[in-house]
Amino acid sequence: MESLESRFPDVHFYNAALTEVQSGVVIGTGTRVGSMTIIHAGAVIGRGCTIGSHCNVCACVVGDRVSVQTACHITRGVVIEDDVFVGPGVITLNDKLTGGALSFPRIRRGAKVGGGSVILPGVTIGADAVVGAGSVVTRDVPDGALVVGDPARVRSRPPSGT
Ligand SMILES: CC(C)(COP(=O)(O)OP(=O)(O)OC[C@H]1O[C@@H](n2cnc3c(N)ncnc32)[C@H](O)[C@@H]1OP(=O)(O)O)[C@@H](O)C(=O)NCCC(=O)NCCS
Repeated sequence: MESLESRFPDVHFYNAALTEVQSGVVIGTGTRVGSMTIIHAGAVIGRGCTIGSHCNVCACVVGDRVSVQTACHITRGVVIEDDVFVGPGVITLNDKLTGGALSFPRIRRGAKVGGGSVILPGVTIGADAVVGAGSVVTRDVPDGALVVGDPARVRSRPPSGT
């Protein structure tokens, strides 16, 4: 099997021997991928991203300059737009387990998702929103909002710069 370095010459793998990238994956120039991470067939990852170690990245779409920190599960069908930060240990989900169709989370441009958060199926996190660490996000988050808790609820945000 061709090495990751020769398949993706413009991508930096922390430890290619400990990383699996299945066939049919696109990874943009300048992206870095940690060790013990699996990127599944069909994933499309943009330029200048950081995909941390111990991540499971299914067939999803990740924009440019996105940071996915250590030990995240990015499930199939997720869309992560440009300049998003996904903290360590974030789990995204696409099946409510109630018999309906799969539905896919979307994280809009510039949003930040705190470590250990769980994003339920079909939820959209708005542009530039912040999700506090350990939140369980069950509903859409408005653009620019700060949400915390389980279930995550909007908390007022101090004016920027304070
Ligand atoms: C949500 C967050 C942005 C709020 O930051 P902040 O505005 O400075 O908040 P404070 O620390 O002043 O806390 C304000 C209140 O919110 C509560 N709070 C803070 N973070 C919380 C969270 N994640 N979940 C629930 N409540 C939270 C605090 O307990 C405090 O409540 P109190 O007033 O009743 O004591 C921040 O705490 C957070 O979770 N950031 C994400 C960190 C992270 O995951 N980083 C990843 C890279 S390492």
